[in-house]
Amino acid sequence: MTDLIWLNGEIKPLSDARLGVEDRGFQFADGVYEVIRIYNGRLFALPEHLDRLERSCGGIMMKMLIDRQRLAREIEQFIAKTGVKEGMIYLQITRGDSPRNHAFPQCPQTTLFYARPLPPTAPAGGQSGVKLYSVPDERWKRCWIKSVALLPNVLAKNTALAAGADEAVFVDDGVATECSSSNLFVVRQGALLTTPVGAKVLPGITRLVVLALAKELGIPATERPISEAEAISADELFITSTTREIGWVASWNGKPVSPGRCGAITLKLHKALQERIRRETQSPQR
Ligand code: PDD
Repeated sequence: MTDLIWLNGEIKPLSDARLGVEDRGFQFADGVYEVIRIYNGRLFALPEHLDRLERSCGGIMMKMLIDRQRLAREIEQFIAKTGVKEGMIYLQITRGDSPRNHAFPQCPQTTLFYARPLPPTAPAGGQSGVKLYSVPDERWKRCWIKSVALLPNVLAKNTALAAGADEAVFVDDGVATECSSSNLFVVRQGALLTTPVGAKVLPGITRLVVLALAKELGIPATERPISEAEAISADELFITSTTREIGWVASWNGKPVSPGRCGAITLKLHKALQERIRRETQSPQR
């Protein structure tokens, strides 16, 4: 039963879901989304994702009409129905379906979510290293909004894939901002560095958790712009996202970056992240 969708309050097979041609998500990319990880049939960091969803709605001048508590309950019940134990929820809210007009319509929002199974993530340090590739950051200045307008990210990712890499790093005026679907961290002299969230960086939930874990572990962390040159010459590099957790970086623009394996601090943080996930999703349900 994994191929179900929750669409405006109704659960149905994904293949039976119908959306209007004039849905604003389709015509204007007028909507926001979230990707939430499911471990052991439970959602990881749901409150943080819902906080960001509300902020994203505010960012596109749209009040989130579905009640937050109800949304959380519906997603939890939905996951139980699908039987997905390891996977993700894709959730999207658009301004709704209305005759095409740039002016905001008066119509119900389109709210939907569905689950997708994912293979369990490999143990910390067990994945192969990520290959990064630089692309110019030509996105808008509101990257803190998790907007469905992802064409620049899609183009960047595919530029990286065409170059034989796995993930694109956006470079804005010499600053390595973030990646096409992940945040970027570097380690220099035992300390973490990451570009601040805002105009050019999404407030990643994994990033947030990693910064909190660094604090607990006594690893100093600074949020400031990181130049591409500084990143490439760092002691360790890693990227973070909901689906990937932490991915250590092996190369940048085809050149190996040190130390050529998962670095000690990256490994420590990834172990701590997996322990946090285990604690939050394997404990008996309240
Ligand atoms: N992407 N930066 C961008 C541009 C992203 O699209 C994402 C997530 C992140 C990491 O955020 P988080 O830790 O909350 O997943 C950073 C999701 C997973 C996606 O679009 O599939």
